[in-house]
Amino acid sequence: MLFELDRARLARLRRREDKAFHARIPKSLKLWQKAKGVMPNGVPMSWMLGLHRHAPVFASKGDKAWFTDVDGNRYLDMNLSDLSATTGFGHPAITRAVARQAARGAQFLLPAEDSIVVSELLRARTGMPYWQFTLSASGANMEAFRIARLATGRRRIVMFDGKYHGHFDEVLVKRSGRSARPSLLGTSPASGRDVTIVPFNDADALAAELKRGDVACVIAEPALTNVNLVLPDPGFHDALRKLTRKHGSLLVIDEAHTMQMAYGGLTRLYGLEPDILTTGKGFGSGVPLGAYGLTAKLARIAADSLDLGPGSTAPGIATGGTTYASALSLAGVRAALEKVLTETGYLRCARLGSRLADGIDRAIAAHDLPWKAQRLGGRSGISMTPVHPRNAAEAASTIDVELIDTRRVFMANRGVWDAIATAGPQAGFAHTPGDIDHYVAVFSAFLDEIV
Ligand SMILES: Cc1ncc(COP(=O)(O)O)c(C=O)c1O
Repeated sequence: MLFELDRARLARLRRREDKAFHARIPKSLKLWQKAKGVMPNGVPMSWMLGLHRHAPVFASKGDKAWFTDVDGNRYLDMNLSDLSATTGFGHPAITRAVARQAARGAQFLLPAEDSIVVSELLRARTGMPYWQFTLSASGANMEAFRIARLATGRRRIVMFDGKYHGHFDEVLVKRSGRSARPSLLGTSPASGRDVTIVPFNDADALAAELKRGDVACVIAEPALTNVNLVLPDPGFHDALRKLTRKHGSLLVIDEAHTMQMAYGGLTRLYGLEPDILTTGKGFGSGVPLGAYGLTAKLARIAADSLDLGPGSTAPGIATGGTTYASALSLAGVRAALEKVLTETGYLRCARLGSRLADGIDRAIAAHDLPWKAQRLGGRSGISMTPVHPRNAAEAASTIDVELIDTRRVFMANRGVWDAIATAGPQAGFAHTPGDIDHYVAVFSAFLDEIV
């Protein structure tokens, strides 16, 4: 049961804050009008508008954990561009590496030495021995499915309810019996035919599906991060690994978000043993890059199935893209891994994450709310329940979109860019303890308004 919000009061607050917000961004509004003449919805990527229930602000520049819009408003970024910019804006080491590479050539469609270094660094921290690169986590997941299907000769993919694995047809589906159906418009009606969705933390439901013997792979986030935060029950990952091995299915661990929550991702923290580890978002560097790690066995299969293009007698595996693994992206990500995404850096983020969660818990207690702060490395947020949810159905009942949207605008008016509705705030590599305290103070001021 949710805490009984005074909806009328919330709506009044929302109107007041929306008005103030739009009054602060005249230049953005003007640009938005102009943009509508050349881009649908006036944004270069529609999601940029769909994410928030207010006009878009046009970004001007960023510095460490703060960015400035074209009207000169400054925001402390607690969403970190949905974890694609956890290293902050304009980190000198990343900036230098990208600038150097841009000057030498951003893109060759040839391997650059940095790809070896990045693979070695990823191997050392995750244990996955072989690596391939894409531009996004969506691209990595799509290729992971193809490798799993090729390696097993099976078609079915099992996913967990509450998943988000990217923007391609087969993962944009919702449960419909043993199959799935499209969850958005424009995808193939058949896209969910070979997909089964089971509840997270439910090893029995998973076992029942795997027993059928037709599952190529199970794809799982180590913890669900796109329906607020849902942590795995003790023993759940063990069961997942044992069951997939027992029934001849591969295990794909999607660390697009969780790679940002611990050094080597949760694969290292939880001691997971995926067959394929996927990730992306430039690991937080701000430079686009996706990647997937393969076991030696799968690397061999991938190598032996090389697509030799026109003229070849047999088709190879469908992977790759012209700008995948670009020299520019690899140079930026290498610098990020070497200089920012270090073990010490992650430990610091986790300490800031505890400070954030402690502050949120204090604010919740001060307002006598039956809520609880979430905790996973730098990531926090709130469960609007006294106990944390265990699956997507429980998580959905703890997310109040109206409340979150109002909070977002309230916080933006006070210089804090809060998370998107399905995420929580996260402490990143560029945040300072003062930044975290600022977030908590504004969060607490918001609770003053609604309680
Ligand atoms: C767990 C997970 N996998 C994959 C993706 C897709 O990432 P991208 O949009 O960079 O392709 C996301 C994006 O939020 C994600 O959260």
